[in-house]
Amino acid sequence: MKDSKKIKFKNRLVLSAMAGINDHKFCSRFPAGMVVLGGFSADKKAMEASKKARLRGRKEFIFEDPLEGIRGEIEGLIQNYDRMFAVNVRSASEKGYLKVAEIVSDFGGFIEINAHCRQPEFLEIGCGQSLLGDPRLISIVEEVSGVCPTIVKIRGGLPLDYKKLAENLKEAGCLILHVDAMIPGGKADFGLIREISEGIFTIGNNSVVDVKSAKKMIESGAKLVSAARAVLKDEKFFDRLLVDELLSSSVSLVY
Ligand SMILES: Cc1cc2nc3c(=O)[nH]c(=O)nc-3n(C[C@H](O)[C@H](O)[C@H](O)COP(=O)(O)O)c2cc1C
Repeated sequence: MKDSKKIKFKNRLVLSAMAGINDHKFCSRFPAGMVVLGGFSADKKAMEASKKARLRGRKEFIFEDPLEGIRGEIEGLIQNYDRMFAVNVRSASEKGYLKVAEIVSDFGGFIEINAHCRQPEFLEIGCGQSLLGDPRLISIVEEVSGVCPTIVKIRGGLPLDYKKLAENLKEAGCLILHVDAMIPGGKADFGLIREISEGIFTIGNNSVVDVKSAKKMIESGAKLVSAARAVLKDEKFFDRLLVDELLSSSVSLVY
């Protein structure tokens, strides 16, 4: 029988990916149980998409050599940060994900496959949300999960069988589903968090703005809860959530 492994998160909070913002300096400022670096583009085609997105005013990380850029960000983070980290990645090729997984594995983090982004530049090259419902997502997860612990970031609100998707991803080796439970028009779909969390370790995401909304994610079954925009509004956002006993409690992923 295979030995089980355990990854401990110091508290329930996660800093969610923000392209062009979540570099190592930004991430290391927050007392979350896990921070997500990136999103980063891992191969040439994805990097071209990042450049195009930047030209129309979006924030993006641009690296001459994407893999060296990502390695540099991880090295920078771990000098000042002793908690868990993940690296959010888009890539047009399977090889791009695999190469990032190899780097992440050298430093003991997670890779987060971005099946979430809906910027046209990335959808056009088969990245982000276009991976949802594409069998390529399963084969990517099968490959990278053999190299390092794997998270898949997905978006709610689409006409998909989310329970089945979660089952398939888990079977392929995904350890954590990061669920942006957005409902078109705002707020979060806690029913979706409940449904998916029955089968897999989840991070609940969207519209977490205070202790009450963060706890609701955990009470709906998510093991961790993430935030992006609220952190931009308030540097001390996570400190304010950590006064709560449940949100400041540790949790372990056993696999
Ligand atoms: C400026 C900005 C950049 C983002 N970039 C990424 C990204 O690169 N990858 C990703 O998976 N999600 C990205 N997101 C989505 C967030 O991680 C999060 O899922 C979303 O904002 C909903 O959470 P919130 O309500 O806490 O902001 C971005 C969000 C913002 C505001």
